[in-house]
Formats: sequence, C-alpha cells, structure tokens
Amino acid sequence: MHKPLDSIQPIIWREDRLHLLDQRRLPNEQVWLDYQQANEVADAITNMVVRGAPAIGITAAFGVVLAAREAWLQQGEAWKQAMDKPLAYLAESRPTAVNLRWAIERMTSVYQDLPDNESPEEILIEQAKMIHNEDIAANHKMGKLGSALIDADSHVLTHCNAGALATGGFGTALGVIRQAYADGNVTQVYADETRPWLQGARLTAWELSQEGIPVTLQADGAAAALMATSKLEWIIVGADRITANGDVANKIGTYMLAILAKYHNVKVMVVAPTSTIDWTLNSGSEIPIEQRPAEEVTTINGVNIAPQGIPALNPAFDVTPASLIDVIVTEAGVVLSPSLESMSIIKGN
Ligand code: MRU
Repeated sequence: MHKPLDSIQPIIWREDRLHLLDQRRLPNEQVWLDYQQANEVADAITNMVVRGAPAIGITAAFGVVLAAREAWLQQGEAWKQAMDKPLAYLAESRPTAVNLRWAIERMTSVYQDLPDNESPEEILIEQAKMIHNEDIAANHKMGKLGSALIDADSHVLTHCNAGALATGGFGTALGVIRQAYADGNVTQVYADETRPWLQGARLTAWELSQEGIPVTLQADGAAAALMATSKLEWIIVGADRITANGDVANKIGTYMLAILAKYHNVKVMVVAPTSTIDWTLNSGSEIPIEQRPAEEVTTINGVNIAPQGIPALNPAFDVTPASLIDVIVTEAGVVLSPSLESMSIIKGN
C-alpha cells in the first residue's frame, strides 16, 4: 500500500489572473492560457479549454472574481448590478454540469452581502480558492470511500475523463482509481477512448500513465466484448448532474455501459461531489442535455472523416437511470442502490 500521487492541477490562480491548462492540446502539448476577463473565461468553458463538471464549477468561481473586478473598476459603487450580465453569460457556457450554477450561486451569495463602497475582489478570491480546495479534499475523501468498496486485485473500466483534469485535482472516478491502485484494490484500468472528443484517449490515458497506473485504451465499441471475455469487476465513472432520485447525467456512452454492465454482472460506481447533485430535479428526464457541433463527430483533429454536410448527432451526455447504478460515492457518504429514498441519507450532510 502506498500514497496515491496528486500532482496534476488544471486550474491555478496566480498573479491576479486565472491560468487554465488547455485540455484541447493534451497529451501532445502542455499549454497554459491565462484569463483576466469573465467573458473570456465563459468562452474557455464553452470551447473545452477546461471541462469536467467540478473543474467547470471552480473555473466559473474564478470567473465571478474577474467579473467583480471589472464591475468595480468600471462602475464603482454600482458594481453589484453590473455583475448580472457577465454572470448570465458565464452560467450559459455549458448547460448540463450543475456545478457551474452551484458555484455561481455560492459566489453570488457571498458578494450580495458585501458593502457597495469596497472592492469585493479579495473576499471573492478567498471564496473561489475555498471552493477549489474543498473540491480537492472531497476527491480524496471519495477516493477512500470508493476504494473501500473494491475487492483486492480488481479490474475496472472508466469512461471519459473524471480525473484531476476534470476537477480541482485528484479526480472523482480517477480519484477512486488512484486510491484503489495505491491500496492494491485496482490492478488494471481500461479506458474508453470516448468519442467524439476523446477525453479517454487524450486525458485519462495520459493522467494514469503519467503515474504508472496500468491503463489500456479501447474503442468505445469494445466495451461489451471486454465484459464478455475479460475479468472486469467495476465500471467507475463521474457525473455532470445527479437528480434527487439518483439518476445520473454523464458523458455520452455511460448509459450504454450501464446497460451492458447489468447484462454481464459488472458493478457500476458513480463518483461525484455533492456539488454535482441537483436536488431541485426529481428525475434525469428533466436534465438539460448539451448538444454540441456536428463537426466534433464528422472530423478528427480538424480532418474530415465523413461526407461533407452529413448531419451528425452530438449529444454530449446521456442519463443513466438510478436502477442501473450500484453505488453513488460522494464526500458526504456512499449511497447503495440509489433511489429517492436512499439518496436522502446524504441530503444536508
Ligand atoms: O464534456 P466533458 O468533458 O466536460 O464531460 C465530462 C464528463 O462527462 C465527466 O465524466 C464528468 O464531468 C465528471 S468529471 C469529474
């Protein structure tokens, strides 16, 4: 048993600006972009410079800091009213991950009580850093809770990237995998490449291989055959939004995996902080699903792979019903066989 590594952090606040590791360029190049304007932060979220529900929330929190700085410099004592427009733009940057709204609401509740005649910047920076640090702490806690559910020498499959890159650091699904590898509970990881954006190939495979965790990449369509022919105990994924009844929106293809898992007696673990739970929605059918441009499907790295002009569906997420999930791991506790009733044990924790 050894301590899991925790070195990758995609979001840094330094020298009064926000620095984001450009995830579109990984794994071939490590390029950092820096931001001083809230609208540019919103565009960075839309354009996938940063992605993954908790990372989007943390980035938005720092976006609120930048909006407040601009509002104070331009409007002085009327700064609060000047926040509405940039925050609305930020809130629209991606529709499915509820962490975005959660972070903006938390930052708003802090600045609403501040005096009009003082710059809000320092207090908001403190709050955004707190959101960031709490996320990392939650991931470590979930790592331990999740690892405890996994038998020694298990093989697991993950989808998309729910790693350090998708969070403040350490990761949700990959946090459990990191911890479980350190504990000797996970000895082999399979990563779906995750078409169309290839988060699995470009990000998950990179993160895990950097740390020497055995990871094997596969095409998404290979999942059923893997389950039918190989040792596989768990599917471990993150979430973009979980509703009060335990339904889970996550990267497109997660629902398909959960159905396959049921057929092959493979268990399904969803790992997400409580900031990903939307208690205002009763079921997954109410979750807004982001539709992304067709070009993400019809091209790879800017090269056409389909006939010009062919229509393509590109929903970024799907909804896995709670009945297909064995356990939801949060920092507030573990929910076995999620349902409206069992989910209530973590409400308010
Ligand atoms: O489109 P993305 O890359 O933002 O989608 C990310 C996912 O679906 C992740 O699994 C989810 O946000 C959890 S990240 C800890």
